[in-house]
Amino acid sequence: MKILVTGGCGYIGSHTCVELLESGYEVVIVDNLSNSQADVVDKIKTITNKDVKFYQEDVCDKKDLEHIFTNEQIDAVIHFAGLKAVGESVSKPLMYYRNNLDSTLTLLEIMNNHNCKKIVFSSSATVYGKPHKLPITEDFPLQTTNPYGSTKLMIEMILNDLYASDNEWSIAILRYFNPIGAHKSGLIGENPNGIPNNLMPYIVKVATGELKELNVFGNDYDTKDGTGVRDYIHVVDLAKGHIKAIEKVMQEKGIDTYNLGTGKGYSVLEIVNTFQKVNNINVPYKIVERRPGDIDACYASTEKAAKLLNWRAELELDEMCKDAYNFVSKNKE
Ligand code: NAD
Ligand code: UFG
Repeated sequence: MKILVTGGCGYIGSHTCVELLESGYEVVIVDNLSNSQADVVDKIKTITNKDVKFYQEDVCDKKDLEHIFTNEQIDAVIHFAGLKAVGESVSKPLMYYRNNLDSTLTLLEIMNNHNCKKIVFSSSATVYGKPHKLPITEDFPLQTTNPYGSTKLMIEMILNDLYASDNEWSIAILRYFNPIGAHKSGLIGENPNGIPNNLMPYIVKVATGELKELNVFGNDYDTKDGTGVRDYIHVVDLAKGHIKAIEKVMQEKGIDTYNLGTGKGYSVLEIVNTFQKVNNINVPYKIVERRPGDIDACYASTEKAAKLLNWRAELELDEMCKDAYNFVSKNKE
């Protein structure tokens, strides 16, 4: 069984390639390296001791994709490729709409031409906007507050329309909560350039001394300690969820949407405290203003994925904090 992984050199994609290879799938990666490095391919090979085919191409490019689908007998696609920074999407909306929509439309057209109609798509909990209650189930109303989130919602709509027009498709839409952590080997993980937007990469850079202190965005939310609460999920658990989703689209036609989270909410201060404890390191922080657009709390109902995909996250917060720090400490220049 051969799986095309778009964006397979990225953070979640690389961990998913490892799980696919370890589950016996053949893997073909297409990535334009706009937010990743080519050496990730070698690291995936080192971890798994298996071969991977890599095409450095843009998924928006019809000719390049056509070439891949002609060369390879692809059975199904996992579509990670996309731009993902919320703040940047607000300042560069056209870039986000162009890249995220164009890549998806191009991919779906070429898949259709080659009669490859099985896809797993990376959506995001951002499509729930500010939830009216918790935990969030998949049938909650959808709303977005930034161009990045809108691209995810639009793609979900495109996939629903596509299935309505042709019931031969098998489509799994996965809404991720907050992926953190890294592979145990310390070879692959997340280490964004510059000043990170997300909490865990920021904490790690404070711990390594690259940044002075963490700014905690608000302590007056309606949560246990006043700081924002999120559903953090270990990236390896998340990657395993994709194997279950691939099995599902292989088995049956249809379209369905699943939350991938742990179902547990942790506050910013709980994350900082756990990180300090398990890594035995100090993370100085100060409380600052709320970040515009942030919500108080967000965590998933995980029942649907448990029932229909037979998947639940297993790794605890301690592991997530240890593995995030292990990766960055091992890969410091
Ligand atoms: P990432 O940036 O690490 O990986 C995305 C990969 O796609 C990168 O390697 C990048 O080079 C590649 N890419 C982007 N545009 C491309 C194009 N046009 N052609 C070919 N390659 C292209 O991001 P990630 O954290 O691994 O996220 C993967 C997917 O999951 C994204 O679609 C993202 O929106 C979604 N998602 C991520 C999170 C998160 O917190 N990390 C949460 C929810 C959803
Ligand atoms: N936070 C800080 N300081 C920081 C960074 C974050 O206090 O320097 C706080 C935030 O206010 C929030 C929590 O840490 O309460 C988590 O923030 P992140 O930026 O790590 O994550 P978000 O939940 O805001 O957003 C992330 C992704 C989105 C995605 C969403 C749901 O960035 O793309 O998860 O999956 F849509």
